[in-house]
Amino acid sequence: MSGPVPKGTGMLQSSVGARYAGMLGIGGYRPERVVTNDEVCTWIDSSDTWIRERTGIISRRWASEEQTIVDMAAEAAAPALEMAGITADQLSAVIVATVTHTMQTPAAAPMLATRIGAKDAAAFDISAACAGYCHGVSLASDMVRGGSAEYVLVVGVEKLSDITDKRDRGSAFIFADGAGAAVIGPTDTPGIGPTVWGSDGEKWEAISQRVPWDRIVALQLQEATTGEPADWVAAGAMDATEASTLKMAGQTVFRWAVWSMAPVAQQAIEAAGITASDLDAFVPHQANMRITDAMIKQLKLPADIPVARDIAETGNTSAASIPLATERMLREGEVPHGGLALQIGFGAGLAYAAQVVRLP
Ligand SMILES: CC(C)(COP(=O)(O)OP(=O)(O)OC[C@H]1O[C@@H](n2cnc3c(N)ncnc32)[C@H](O)[C@@H]1OP(=O)(O)O)[C@@H](O)C(=O)NCCC(=O)NCCS
Repeated sequence: MSGPVPKGTGMLQSSVGARYAGMLGIGGYRPERVVTNDEVCTWIDSSDTWIRERTGIISRRWASEEQTIVDMAAEAAAPALEMAGITADQLSAVIVATVTHTMQTPAAAPMLATRIGAKDAAAFDISAACAGYCHGVSLASDMVRGGSAEYVLVVGVEKLSDITDKRDRGSAFIFADGAGAAVIGPTDTPGIGPTVWGSDGEKWEAISQRVPWDRIVALQLQEATTGEPADWVAAGAMDATEASTLKMAGQTVFRWAVWSMAPVAQQAIEAAGITASDLDAFVPHQANMRITDAMIKQLKLPADIPVARDIAETGNTSAASIPLATERMLREGEVPHGGLALQIGFGAGLAYAAQVVRLP
């Protein structure tokens, strides 16, 4: 053949990754400040007994005013890297799962990557609320096996105290702050089972910010320039504080989680090619102890499987809850290193993701 090679006939090289990916390390960070149910009851008309019975929460951790999600994420990343036996400069990518990074742009991940010394790593945030960490684990596993990364840091981190209305009787007692991190990298045997994930955007209002940021900014600007008080009620909130916080339709979320999430968890077990009796731990999103109990029943899990109940002292930390609960179970010897854990995240979106992982 003579003449120029026509465009588009070149043989494209595809990237080649590791045969298998697995979780190599895990770490967690809980802020120092303990917020007891009694303290919560100074903000809302409630009781320690009611909060314990309805949610299983005894106390939660709230970050200090100055502490950012990047600060907390860095604290969680350090022990995860140490357990994985790698240094930050070996990371090809950093994924931050969060809904409480308070800047629309830039993402938190590049700041975190620089902070921990993961120079030049690809770094981006994902927004899948309480399902964010399991989404991140799935992405990282695919990146390692697809060849776009060797080691990936996945961090679930939240400062929900920033977007909690302390006066809201329907949510003030539930949300908390913290960070959990996992290092995903190449392994000799399968370490992360197939992810079963999905969403139901029809129920987006079940957990959402009350008023979009742009509307809040516009109203505040209008107030500042005209001197007229902003009509927050027309915007869907009683004042600026309520406008910028979360609203939650508790019962809608409760019913959805109880009825729809057990089948997803069951599919993740089957997709991994195991049965419930092979599991060493069940680590559901720490949304609410009653949701966890209902899922155990529906899944018919063997009575002796250790179940994460970190919510009792950590509260609901959204994207951070699964890695924090896993870190605690490993640290306290409740599950063995190398054991199999079923993890499932679910929440705002509504979004969900589940997979079976071999613990580091
Ligand atoms: C939030 C939640 C604990 C509220 O419990 P609930 O039973 O649905 O509460 P309801 O709003 O139906 O109210 C039931 C009763 O408790 C009372 N109540 C509501 N909030 C209360 C509070 N903070 N303290 C004390 N009593 C309260 C109500 O007044 C009502 O009283 P009544 O029966 O005398 O009228 C529950 O809906 C829940 O756990 N939802 C899931 C939330 C979740 O997991 N979110 C995270 C998802 S990621």
